[in-house]
Amino acid sequence: MQQPVPRPTDLVVFGGTGDLSMRKLLPSLYLLDRDGHLDEGTRLIAVSRDGLTDADLRDKAASAVRGHNAVQVVEPEVMRRFLERLLHVSVDVGGDPSGWAALATALTPGRDRVFYLAVPPMISGAICRGLRDTDLVTPGSRVVMEKPLGRDLASAQAVNEEVGAVFDESRIYRIDHYLGKETVQNLLVLRFANVFLEPLWNSRWIDHVQITASETVGVGGRRGYYDSSGAMRDMVQNHLLQLLCLTAMEPPSSYDRDAVRDEKLKVLQSLRPMRGDRVARHTVRGQYTSGTVHGEEVLGYLDEAGGPPTSDTETFVALRAEVANWRWAGVPFYLRTGKRMAHSRSEIVIRFRDVPHTIFPGTGTGSGAGSLVIRLQPDEGIHLTMLAKTPGAGALRLRPVPLELSFADTFSTRSPEAYERLLMDVLAGDSTLFMRRDEVEAAWRWVDPIIQAWDGLGAAPEPYPAGSAGPEGANRLIGRTGRMWHEEENSR
Ligand code: BG6
Repeated sequence: MQQPVPRPTDLVVFGGTGDLSMRKLLPSLYLLDRDGHLDEGTRLIAVSRDGLTDADLRDKAASAVRGHNAVQVVEPEVMRRFLERLLHVSVDVGGDPSGWAALATALTPGRDRVFYLAVPPMISGAICRGLRDTDLVTPGSRVVMEKPLGRDLASAQAVNEEVGAVFDESRIYRIDHYLGKETVQNLLVLRFANVFLEPLWNSRWIDHVQITASETVGVGGRRGYYDSSGAMRDMVQNHLLQLLCLTAMEPPSSYDRDAVRDEKLKVLQSLRPMRGDRVARHTVRGQYTSGTVHGEEVLGYLDEAGGPPTSDTETFVALRAEVANWRWAGVPFYLRTGKRMAHSRSEIVIRFRDVPHTIFPGTGTGSGAGSLVIRLQPDEGIHLTMLAKTPGAGALRLRPVPLELSFADTFSTRSPEAYERLLMDVLAGDSTLFMRRDEVEAAWRWVDPIIQAWDGLGAAPEPYPAGSAGPEGANRLIGRTGRMWHEEENSR
């Protein structure tokens, strides 16, 4: 992987004063600036309808950067340099055209241009047309699209068409910020830069895979958005399926954007379709009620502000997916995500099969299945559990013991935030860690029938108290075949 080379760029962020920009983009750009990854000529142009002055924007940006947990110490010289890069331009997309002229004046001919759409998907098309009609799209211009990328296959296709009418696919960067996480990239290195795992990486030696992204946070101030989305669209369609792809894909011929994305696409296309009875049997939806998270009493989903008092939106999903190909035939992939759970934890668990024949019967731990846990957050690392002999001269006893690799302990360098990595790649023109149109659409093609079946069944999501491990149905889903979720296993 080559170190991207910074070039002078005008980075224009539509929705530039919004939540994503303040919480993620500006702090990440500050960190990139601090670490020398922004060319000195690069400028950040926030576009909104807020009518802010540059000074207002800089004040807002400074407090956003100071409040970010990855920015532990603000360096005054870096902050000064960073804020000087910031400009605000008011554009009323679809309204008064004078904003477009102001944006044209703010851009410098001859520089790279990146247009970042941190806006709801239904205005992405109008923005792209506005850029084209005012001749702001130069041959090398790139566009970055943020989630949600549609709410079903048809709406995703419509947005892709509209944006694709202005930008060539090779210039479109669709963000899934999970792909920017260090451990996710490390998963590819673990699988394809080491020789020992690949021979075991198939249905012969792997019993099942679990992919979990549990969060202690609720929907907070996002109830309005969330109510029309739910955990399936918000987390499974994108983040969890991307993790599944990286876990299940065949080795690409190179670490090249299309080689990697071709292999991910094949996984999505191999997912066994879920319809009717299979949905009822292999999926579970939940919704949190009030409860206690880390000792603090919190509201139930229906009591969160900004949405109706009744709602069937799911805040939890667990499901059993199958990748129908030679490598994975018969290996269930259990996916699970939820808000207001007991722990914030994202991980991929590879559970190996039992040994075919044990020569240590009656030593306390069954026949010796091990597991490999790839922990994305918190405490990024890789943990391999294997059986070892308990020391002592008495009867032979075996015990599962961990072999741990903690990234924080092993590498003294800080892991960049996902958005730092992805912004750096956009600025360098590397789209390997971004989603191609066919991937996004293939993911919707699999997810849509599940959501439609849920609508058809009309069943309310199963309640679970905030601060718990989710609804009981999730344990039944995995327990039906004698398996259990990873944390339950640990607490045996
Ligand atoms: C976002 C979802 O894409 O990912 C949020 O919209 C979710 O609902 C977030 O909280 C989780 O990201 P992370 O990086 O905190 O795991």
